[in-house]
Amino acid sequence: MQIQPFKLERYFAKYEFSARYLLCSSDCESLSVGDLLALEPGAEEALRRHWLGYTESPGAPSLRKEITRIYTSITPEEVLVFSGAEEAIFLFILAELKAGDHLIVHWPCYQSLFEVAKGMGVDVTLWVAREENGWQPDLDELKRLVRPETRAIIINTPHNPTGYLMPRSDFDELNRIALERGLVLFCDEVYRELEYDPADRLPAACDVNPGAVSLGVMSKTYGLAGLRIGWIATHRAEILNRIATLKDYTTICNSATSEFLSEIALRHREEIAGRNLQIIRQNLSLLDDFFSRHANRFEWIRPKAGPIAFPKLIAGDIDVFCDELVNESGVLLLPGTLYDHPGNHFRIGFARKNMPEALARLEKYLDN
Ligand SMILES: Cc1ncc(COP(=O)(O)O)c(C=O)c1O
Repeated sequence: MQIQPFKLERYFAKYEFSARYLLCSSDCESLSVGDLLALEPGAEEALRRHWLGYTESPGAPSLRKEITRIYTSITPEEVLVFSGAEEAIFLFILAELKAGDHLIVHWPCYQSLFEVAKGMGVDVTLWVAREENGWQPDLDELKRLVRPETRAIIINTPHNPTGYLMPRSDFDELNRIALERGLVLFCDEVYRELEYDPADRLPAACDVNPGAVSLGVMSKTYGLAGLRIGWIATHRAEILNRIATLKDYTTICNSATSEFLSEIALRHREEIAGRNLQIIRQNLSLLDDFFSRHANRFEWIRPKAGPIAFPKLIAGDIDVFCDELVNESGVLLLPGTLYDHPGNHFRIGFARKNMPEALARLEKYLDN
């Protein structure tokens, strides 16, 4: 297997802990361990007593039980917990695909969703979401992309980097297409529960499609990236078994303290997600004003969910723009070229409390 470098992660490796203002993060505002423990009486004492031996490989039963509350039809045995969503993506692809198989991936996207498969010799076709269609991928096009050797479809909704949220009718049709053709639908739902209008929330794919695998994580909606806890939920026991067998070669089991803290956070997930959604709503209204003030420089399609969007720089080269911006003002944006996207776009993130300050910095830079 030969995997290409993860462009976005390499870029973050260069700037994430040195740039003064991160205006492109996809994770919501975090919490301290103290803040989290304060959510429950007795939690601090329980953490002190928590045993630090190996943990159960699929994830602590009590954590898996808490995760099932996110879904309507999933049992604890149908959940497998990992060190982040990234490990889950890697092992799903390794377990379910082999060289010569065909995979369809919703694009632009988080690079590992297609790159790991490509590195294994899987034939990957990108199902392209186009700006001129408001980032809505075309279902007729998807039907044309399916071949006899197609094994799986990977999608991400709410979407990184555009903030696009599939309408329910498209989501139902997509699940129908996958089911009718016997394809696994891997649905990256790491931004779920961050819909600006709760009525737009889609069901988890695993709850409406017996052939689907849903991906969740602590990092994004709940802002707890440092815990490195993610999971998949599916009714497909044979997929879970194949992945569990491979996990023995990656992390074996998860961090005991992270599992403990994740369980507390998930017991309060509505409160935590609600707080993050409030930060997003406030920051989005600042962005609405910002983009209307700078309509001659940027175009943007307002997102429908999640902490990020993918505006376009009208004139000038986006790589040069982002590079000069971070070097001269300390504000980090992500050029769309990190997604191999040719459209002169950049990713902007707005789920952090210091976003207004970062945006003011950007505006000052533009005005100079
Ligand atoms: C769509 C998507 N999936 C998966 C991940 C991986 O999440 P984690 O870093 O928590 O493993 C990310 C992270 O940015 C993401 O945006």
